[in-house]
Amino acid sequence: MEKDGNLKQKKRKREKTPSSSYADGERKIIASHSFSFRIKFVWHNLRGKRPQFIIGLLLTAITSIIVIVNPYMSKILVDDVIRGGKRDMLVPVLLVMSGVVLVKTGLHMLKIVMMEQASQNMLMAIRKTIFRNIQYQEMSFFDKIKSGDIITRTTGDLEYLRHFCAWVTYVTVDMVVTFTAAVVMLVYVSPVLTLALISVLPFILLCSFIYNKKVAPLYRSIRQRLSDLNVGASENINGNRVVKAFAREEYEKEKFSHINGQYMKDNMRAAFAWQRVVPVIDFLAQILTFLTILVGGALCINGSISLGDLTLFTGLTWALSDPMRQVSNILNDMQRFSASADKVIEIYYARPLICDRHNAVDTKERFKGKVEFRNVSFSYAKGPQVLSNVSFKFYPNETIAIMGPTGSGKTTIANLIARFYDVSSGEVLIDGVDVRDRTLESIHRGVSIATQDVFLFSDTVDGNISFCNPDMELEQVYECAELACADGFIRRMPEGYNTIIGERGVGLSGGQRQRIALARAIAAIPSILILDDTTSAVDMETEKKMQYNLQHLPFHCTTIIIAQRISSVRNADKIMILENGSVTIGTHDSLARTNRYYRNVCELQKIEDLPPFEPDEANGSSPEKVKTGFDDAIATEKEVG
Ligand SMILES: Nc1ncnc2c1ncn2[C@@H]1O[C@H](COP(=O)(O)OP(=O)(O)O)[C@@H](O)[C@H]1O
Ligand SMILES: [Mg+2]
Repeated sequence: MEKDGNLKQKKRKREKTPSSSYADGERKIIASHSFSFRIKFVWHNLRGKRPQFIIGLLLTAITSIIVIVNPYMSKILVDDVIRGGKRDMLVPVLLVMSGVVLVKTGLHMLKIVMMEQASQNMLMAIRKTIFRNIQYQEMSFFDKIKSGDIITRTTGDLEYLRHFCAWVTYVTVDMVVTFTAAVVMLVYVSPVLTLALISVLPFILLCSFIYNKKVAPLYRSIRQRLSDLNVGASENINGNRVVKAFAREEYEKEKFSHINGQYMKDNMRAAFAWQRVVPVIDFLAQILTFLTILVGGALCINGSISLGDLTLFTGLTWALSDPMRQVSNILNDMQRFSASADKVIEIYYARPLICDRHNAVDTKERFKGKVEFRNVSFSYAKGPQVLSNVSFKFYPNETIAIMGPTGSGKTTIANLIARFYDVSSGEVLIDGVDVRDRTLESIHRGVSIATQDVFLFSDTVDGNISFCNPDMELEQVYECAELACADGFIRRMPEGYNTIIGERGVGLSGGQRQRIALARAIAAIPSILILDDTTSAVDMETEKKMQYNLQHLPFHCTTIIIAQRISSVRNADKIMILENGSVTIGTHDSLARTNRYYRNVCELQKIEDLPPFEPDEANGSSPEKVKTGFDDAIATEKEVG
């Protein structure tokens, strides 16, 4: 009772900063690149469509120059047609003016087509490389970058790259050309008036810069928030069963709305920052018009410029002020582009740390199936040592069971055999060759794992089982399912082997999913088969049959069974106990007699006929701490045999 009371009181106050829990690890690994490198990256990926891109920019320049033709036509209209009385010029001038509009529209359309072709092509190229890259990343890559973040990088961030390529570049060209053309034309007409107008421009430019400085960090933050939002959403969707089971919907909603609110706030702040600058810039632009009328009017009255010139000036003030206004947008977009480009570049150039050595052995024939750990120590990137200096050997065709408390490193051993991670020190050898000296392909061809957390694809049962070889004969699929004791329930499903199973195998029980995963692992006809807690959710009866099948597989195979039930392990050739980073190897009888952990498990599971317990303290080490020295003599005999 009292305990219960304590439990109730011990409600911990948790800080409400859930967003930080999503992105902490990820924030630290952003590298910053120089702007020129980012541009080179874009240019590199434009290959194949570079001509379109260049043509797009050229068309932009042409349209920008054309734009100043019409104000010049207005000048002719005023000076020559209206005041000069050359009425016959009216129609040609109007025709030129409409022609200019038509040509401009046409060129603009063409330009958009070119830019889109180039930028979409670039996106496809980058996406392709990133996807291929991700396929070859080692597992620790996914420990660092969460799937939601990868999705942000390949969608939102890539979109900014496209935006940069298809919009920022041409707007910049447009800005520069329009401004230069307008200045040249205005200087040609009246240098004094041009100078008067240009004097206002630095102020507009200054406003743009100030705004940009304020907003740049906000955009980095917005980008990060978006990533948090995606990570949050994807974790919530993937974990929705857990959320429901613990009735934590409210908490999750609150957590999500917190991140959502942060995202909105930052966006609002960025928008408001812009709204504070807009009136100032507009005011300065108005001054430009005011100056044109004031100075231009005076010049016109004293006869320095004609009325047509004044019209030209009024018609071109926008060509001076607009580019200045755009400067802030462009700077903005460049900031967003930079933030996103760095994220994209990081996974674009991410090279797997675990890859083939140049002289790696690519064994085409099957492995014999000998696995050896030689003085292996291992720890994950961030974490304590999981294995400390362990050595052991598994021989071809043996069935080995691995037991140990949760977190003792059983899955880690499987990961090391398949070279999902590399050892910190020591060697893992398959058939006497260090796994680092073999090609990853040959290892993964020979080693098959039915993983602890079963992942099934949204595909048919048949498709899931024949995952390693889609051309596999149906007969063989049935056979594998039978070996995994899955055939019976699969045939009872509405469409048998053609039943589509949901994402992650939704629609199947845990035991059924495990059996399909086992069938998939067997289908690879591996030389080394590892079952990582694959029978935990299977009923005893089925498990017994499964054990039998595994010991009578129709191909040679070293079978490593990680399990918690004595019934799953007692018939194995060897049982390995993993505890505190070291291993003890024995058989059911010897371990039940000497190993405290194994003995405890046996007693908990009410195993009968246990020999008397004789802890092996006489040897100076408690039995569970005995280093592996498994009897090499017996082993060699077995190997030869
Ligand atoms: N990807 C990982 N990154 C960091 N630590 C890990 C990772 N996977 C497992 N660990 C840690 O390594 C230890 C061994 O894990 P594992 O091999 O999965 O144990 P077991 O399968 O025996 O339950 C645990 O303490 C666990 O917290
Ligand atoms: Mg495990």
